Amino acid sequence: MISEFLFRLKLKLFLRNFPIILTDDLKTNISSIDIQHKKLINQLNNIYYKYINKTNGVFMIDVFQIYIGTLEAHFNSEEAELSKLFGSLKIIGHKKYHDNLVDNILTKINYKVLKNYEHSISFFGMRNILEFLRREFMIHIKSDIKLINKLNGEN
Ligand SMILES: [Fe+2]
Ligand SMILES: [Fe+2]
Repeated sequence: MISEFLFRLKLKLFLRNFPIILTDDLKTNISSIDIQHKKLINQLNNIYYKYINKTNGVFMIDVFQIYIGTLEAHFNSEEAELSKLFGSLKIIGHKKYHDNLVDNILTKINYKVLKNYEHSISFFGMRNILEFLRREFMIHIKSDIKLINKLNGEN
């Protein structure tokens, strides 16, 4: 159908930053962390691919919940890994940043998806959430790299 084709084309144009590519400059060089970052990026890309092919709200809620679960598991594992390498005192600020990010994401997703979109999700609502998750995740990776470089420099 032409209208559906145009809808998908429009969405692709709005989400120019998708699919996300994990370029070398986004690697921390701690393999366990990089593997998890790649997994999270793949999940965001899958949400993007699924969304441009299907706009079922119930389906979207599931994928967001899976993403948040993986993100929280990543934060816990990253905190353990960095504590082991550099000592827990050095990562207190980063841990706090993780906690705040999870809170912000849950607030945004709960508001936009779980409460407002029981059966379907608006074009702009979805675009905003995907862009928000992508942006926050890129900021997260960059903050990991900055912290790891700084702590490596101190050692
Ligand atoms: Fe990370
Ligand atoms: Fe982190």
